[in-house]
Amino acid sequence: MNVIQTKSLTKTYNGKGGISDVTLSIGEGIVYGFLGPNGSGKSTFVRTLLGLLQPTSGEGYILGEPIGTTKSREQVGYLPELFRYPDWLTGKQLLESHAELCKIPVRNRRKRIEEVVELVGMTGRENGKISGFSKGMSQRIGLACAILNDPKVVFLDEPTSALDPIGRKDVRDLMLYLREQGKTVFLNSHLLYEVESVCDHVSIVHQGEMVVQGPWRELMMAEAKVEIVTDKPINVPLPSFVVHYQKVKEEETRTRWVVQLENESDIPKFIDYLSSNRIAIYEVKPIIPHLEDVFLHWVNQKKENAYVDNH
Ligand SMILES: Nc1ncnc2c1ncn2[C@@H]1O[C@H](COP(=O)(O)OP(=O)(O)O)[C@@H](O)[C@H]1O
Ligand SMILES: [Mg+2]
Repeated sequence: MNVIQTKSLTKTYNGKGGISDVTLSIGEGIVYGFLGPNGSGKSTFVRTLLGLLQPTSGEGYILGEPIGTTKSREQVGYLPELFRYPDWLTGKQLLESHAELCKIPVRNRRKRIEEVVELVGMTGRENGKISGFSKGMSQRIGLACAILNDPKVVFLDEPTSALDPIGRKDVRDLMLYLREQGKTVFLNSHLLYEVESVCDHVSIVHQGEMVVQGPWRELMMAEAKVEIVTDKPINVPLPSFVVHYQKVKEEETRTRWVVQLENESDIPKFIDYLSSNRIAIYEVKPIIPHLEDVFLHWVNQKKENAYVDNH
């Protein structure tokens, strides 16, 4: 079942900015990272999906319903990027008014509010006035509002921008909890490093265009880098799939290398090659790149392709 689906969805502002030609399908029970630097079109995309902006062209569906319709929003929660709540209310009053807006039956409200307050780590502080909340507390209350109606899909637009490291971890845990409950979380973020531990699938966007999408572990593995320990220096000519290699450390009986190969499938080939040349291998360890590196890799790749296309 596709929870979110778009076909060439485009939203530009009088032909400028925004985001263009996004095609994606997102299933149930995953955390989907929509990643890119500021200004790449992430908020525009989410606001278009939610029907807050009219698409310029293309199509979009949430739980099978065309975007822009009331039905498409029924099972959706949303934490906007820049939000301001009436700050004369207490946190709890805000949640009560939200409960009314999303028509949670009166008899269930108290319990549900208690639950979400707990989930966002605000128990005991929900009766304070929003005007007295720190940025982090406001963000937590915003998250509580976003999940209050137990939505199937939750859109979080830069949910941790105001949070300290503990708050960020709490939000990560909350996303994992939602995933466990079978929910789909659509996460906009420019903080690449903080999403790598939670996202199953990612899209990388840059300057209003999709750069690459897929399971992020696969995107990472597009380049295979390994650290390898051998009994002696590698003194044989290297096969052509070795892109780059560097000696890191040389001891009497062990030599440590970092080797960059073309593909992940070259790793066993490389090991075979060394063995057949009587070089003993004591250790092979894949070097897993950070999302930041992955991001740069794909953005550069796209630029190179654009160069080829244009010339
Ligand atoms: N209301 C608007 N009017 C005109 N241009 C806009 C508007 N909102 C965003 N943009 C432009 O669209 C691009 C994408 O913005 P945005 O969706 O906010 O990106 P992100 O959320 O990734 O930071 C930026 O170049 C921005 O200046
Ligand atoms: Mg944004």
